Amino acid sequence: MTVYESILDAIGGTPLLRLERLGEGVRPRIYAKLEFQNIGGSVKDRAALSMIRAAERAGLLEPGGTVVEGTSGNTGIGLSLVAAQLGYRSVIFAPAATAAEKIRLLRAFGAEVHLVADFVPRSDPGHLANRAAAFAASTPGAWLALQYDNPANPQAHAESTGPEIWTDTAGSVTHFVASVGTGGTISGTGRYLKQASDGLVQVIAADPEHSRYGGGNGSLKYTEGAGHPLHPASKEDIWPEAFDTALVDKYISVSDRDAIFTAHRAAREEGLLIGATGGTALAAALNLAETLDEEHTIVVVLPDSGRNYLSTYFDDHWLASLGFLEPPTPEGTIRSLLTTAPAGVQLLASDLTAAEAVVELHSRGITPDEPVFLVLDRGQSFGTVHPREVMGVVTLRSLGDVEPATPAVTAAIPHRTIAAGLPVTEAGAAADPDSGAGATPEVIAVLIDGRIAATLP
Ligand SMILES: Cc1ncc(COP(=O)(O)O)c(C=O)c1O
Repeated sequence: MTVYESILDAIGGTPLLRLERLGEGVRPRIYAKLEFQNIGGSVKDRAALSMIRAAERAGLLEPGGTVVEGTSGNTGIGLSLVAAQLGYRSVIFAPAATAAEKIRLLRAFGAEVHLVADFVPRSDPGHLANRAAAFAASTPGAWLALQYDNPANPQAHAESTGPEIWTDTAGSVTHFVASVGTGGTISGTGRYLKQASDGLVQVIAADPEHSRYGGGNGSLKYTEGAGHPLHPASKEDIWPEAFDTALVDKYISVSDRDAIFTAHRAAREEGLLIGATGGTALAAALNLAETLDEEHTIVVVLPDSGRNYLSTYFDDHWLASLGFLEPPTPEGTIRSLLTTAPAGVQLLASDLTAAEAVVELHSRGITPDEPVFLVLDRGQSFGTVHPREVMGVVTLRSLGDVEPATPAVTAAIPHRTIAAGLPVTEAGAAADPDSGAGATPEVIAVLIDGRIAATLP
């Protein structure tokens, strides 16, 4: 029997699990590293302990001190449980969209939680990192963990996760797959495995679609904890120092849909309840496995448990409300009202004036009442968009009704979003073909897989 002298001893030492059923039909062996078995429930416990210990050694955190961090949850949970055990106060800044379960967990460990806006430019004082830094600077005895740039974050994995995988596979691992948030896991583990294998282990970053890491444009995503979105108004695209990109041999891009439904499959086919970053990594591992042979062994990191997301990825209402879940046949749903295949919508940079917008839309040859979505400029004129990126909806007609020199957004007309799988009745009068003239001139945007992919005709 294992006897721990402290809760801190219950961090690390997680098992590998052979994925028999999910890996059925592919040639390599696939092992999952069960990071939800860490005492605080995620891979981030390792980084939290390592960063706190390094701060103590450096004299940055002293008895009675305060641990401060900006985090989407798991690092905060790790920090607050280590802080609780060692007698520090913990103050966590988290994005408002963080799953409710994780916020409750933080509070359960005694952390003071401040929710902050989660889609603001990096230079904005309201940005998560700036809020946490300002609090730390004005609080005596406070130490800011700075997981994105703290070398003790990847070091935790070079000292524990990497050696554990190497030992537990008896050196047979050939491919290591992990999702990337701060990059601590992939960098520390990847560094160790490459050294141990004389460079033979291939390191694969499983990256949410649109994430900058894998070359996406930085548009928002639903996979909480991994990937690198970028607010278009951020002057610089700052990548974490914890992420050693030179170690990555390959990026595999995984959509929100694949991440979420691969997590569902893990629960239903293997009895493994995991979050969407685990789903992302697993989807990438399965995709990679198709290209490998019997002599290969893949180890994939499953960072946390699906218990953190029972109100989101595992909740049918949440899934349906964002267009991730649709009935088997479209009859009676919003999708049945779409006359063309939902490929995307007209997009226009939201910083244009009405006059500039009119010129641009004429050049695209669009009709006077075709809805155009004003979005923060990513240089895109057509495609799907995350609803939080929409600043307003205009038409050539509405733009003609405002002063040409005013911002295009002053011509915004009412709009709302509705998921493709919801009943037609939810669209109300605007979608009712019998409602005739006088119906609300409201644009109804259709959400498919969490993104605006069409408007109702
Ligand atoms: C759920 C989840 N998955 C994956 C990661 C990524 O781990 P890392 O920061 O080590 O890259 C995080 C990090 O916060 C996370 O919370």
